[in-house]
Amino acid sequence: MSGSSTSINARAIRAILMPGLLSLALGAACGSGEALRSASSGAQPIQFNHKLHVADQGLDCVECHRFVTSTRKATLPGKDVCADCHREPQGSSPEEQKLVALLSSSEELRWKRVYVLPEHVYFSHFRHVTLGQIGCQTCHGEMKELTAPPRKPATNIINMSFCIGCHKDRRASNDCLACHT
Ligand code: HEC
Ligand code: HEC
Ligand code: HEC
Ligand code: HEC
Ligand code: HEC
Repeated sequence: MSGSSTSINARAIRAILMPGLLSLALGAACGSGEALRSASSGAQPIQFNHKLHVADQGLDCVECHRFVTSTRKATLPGKDVCADCHREPQGSSPEEQKLVALLSSSEELRWKRVYVLPEHVYFSHFRHVTLGQIGCQTCHGEMKELTAPPRKPATNIINMSFCIGCHKDRRASNDCLACHT
């Protein structure tokens, strides 16, 4: 009994949701989606080197992306994270000198993001990383091999068919309302 009333509710909600999604589809066809995505690429404040910090220094992803295992957002590190080691120079690279100067200024570190989903999609790192036990590289490629910030996504993850394909394999929900809020 409760099962059938749930599906009626879901159908009713979907009927309301569809016109919204349809207009989003039309918006994307007019190129607004593309404009949003390409706006995020561009120069980073510091040429950050993942390989040096992960492979050489042995830091774990979660030491900088502090909320990736516990919340929806992985988050990018603020100055406090870098300051743990870079208040004093560790070496003599000009990029590090830039960082040390930035750390003692009042400026914030404004990282530009390459992985950005549209507002109407719900995604949770906690759900995938902690509950689903999916490794970062499945969606982000081998970040630990990068010596400079990525300029574009390593996989097709910002694409509905990538999400749906894995959900089908892993028997996770492919209900429109699971991902569209
Ligand atoms: C199932 C695919 C998937 C997995 C696994 C995954 N990510 Fe993500 N990641 C995404 C998507 C999708 C976004 C864009 C999210 C958005 O726009 O809300 C993202 C965004 C990010 C960002 C940008 C900042 C932010 O908070 O959104 C960082 C950093 C990140 N992921 C790090 C990681 C790390 C570290 C791991 C492993 C511990 C990981 N991700 C595992 C799909 C994934
Ligand atoms: C646990 C310590 C630690 C943390 C935290 C850390 N680093 Fe480093 N970083 C190092 C070490 C060690 C080196 C190597 C110094 C050398 O030998 O040149 C380094 C080198 C660097 C360099 C210079 C090398 C290059 O590739 O140009 C930059 C720039 C840098 N780090 C940026 C950052 C930023 C940005 C953050 C914060 C998001 C950060 N680091 C966090 C330890 C750390
Ligand atoms: C020492 C800090 C540090 C560690 C450790 C670290 N990252 Fe990052 N990560 C950053 C910084 C700073 C950026 C922003 C600059 C860039 O893109 O390189 C970033 C960016 C990213 C992005 C791109 C997010 C976007 O939307 O642009 C992903 C994905 C990511 N990291 C995944 C990982 C994974 C996976 C690991 C572990 C294998 C890891 N990171 C370890 C500091 C770190
Ligand atoms: C590599 C496989 C994989 C990819 C890619 C993936 N997911 Fe998932 N997703 C899962 C698994 C497995 C679960 C179930 C995790 C659990 O709770 O045990 C899940 C669960 C979810 C849930 C919760 C569904 C519910 O039961 O209500 C949402 C929402 C979701 N994913 C959104 C997304 C979005 C959005 C994308 C693409 C940007 C995506 N996922 C890409 C494997 C994946
Ligand atoms: C597993 C997650 C997931 C499920 C389930 C899902 N979507 Fe999506 N959907 C996405 C993601 C991620 C995007 C953003 C893709 C992009 O920006 O390229 C998206 C984008 C869209 C768009 C915008 C147009 C476009 O292609 O960019 C429409 C319309 C849409 N979805 C409709 C639906 C409908 C209808 C259903 C149910 C039949 C559904 N979605 C189920 C993840 C999902």
